[in-house]
Amino acid sequence: MTATDTDHSGPRHVAIIMDGNGRWAQRRGRPRLFGHHAGAKRVREVVEACPDLGVKYVTIFAFSTENWKRTQVEVAGLMSLFRRYISKEARALCDEGVRVRFIGDRVRLDGKLVLLMDELEKMTAHNDRVHLTIALNYGSRDEVARATKRLAQDVAAGRLDPDNVDEETLPKYLDTCVLPDPDLVIRTSGEARISNFLLWQSAYAEYEFIETLWPDFTAGELARLVKDYGKRERRFGAVKV
Ligand code: FPP
Repeated sequence: MTATDTDHSGPRHVAIIMDGNGRWAQRRGRPRLFGHHAGAKRVREVVEACPDLGVKYVTIFAFSTENWKRTQVEVAGLMSLFRRYISKEARALCDEGVRVRFIGDRVRLDGKLVLLMDELEKMTAHNDRVHLTIALNYGSRDEVARATKRLAQDVAAGRLDPDNVDEETLPKYLDTCVLPDPDLVIRTSGEARISNFLLWQSAYAEYEFIETLWPDFTAGELARLVKDYGKRERRFGAVKV
């Protein structure tokens, strides 16, 4: 059966921490960047599998605010990979009906990469088959800090009454303001950590920590996790009556 927009037993929004590229490469006696390149190749297969699984939104963690602490060679290699990936994949993503968005702070990214990101967002803005969000220089705490700064500016300028601030207010200032909250968060490579990813948004998400290293992750494995999700009972803090 093909899942449709009206079939919501599965997750509508899946967020993925793509971990294990470095170990995947090391096990093959290759440099870490070899693993990142292999990891980038998995993205297309996973995104293309989403519509048939009823997954409308997929958000992937490509580079965190903490990843700058890696060696200069690895950081530069990743930035070059992102530039190449966008240039190479833009047409295919657009033709597949993928709407691409980026979240994270663009200020520290190089101008050429930001330009490519802007162009891809514009080029795919009319698409609606599947919404791919790429978190690049993203960290949840950084996002909440930036959101709070803008919220405070609105209060200071008289555009927002502090008495009206409630838990619906902050999400409007987050990078993810147009996205639904993730229903399912997957982390590959056997690590059971959230690593500063979508902390506010995933308050009620289900989590799957799986052993597979990201470059070995397949559409079949995503399908299995989506199916398992359908068996879970989400209560959002309530008691089943
Ligand atoms: C974590 O593995 C992975 C990253 C920090 C980078 C994720 C990037 C990609 C999958 C490649 C490209 C993505 C796009 C959108 C083009 P790790 O290096 O921490 O692995 P390790 O824990 O085994 O060292």
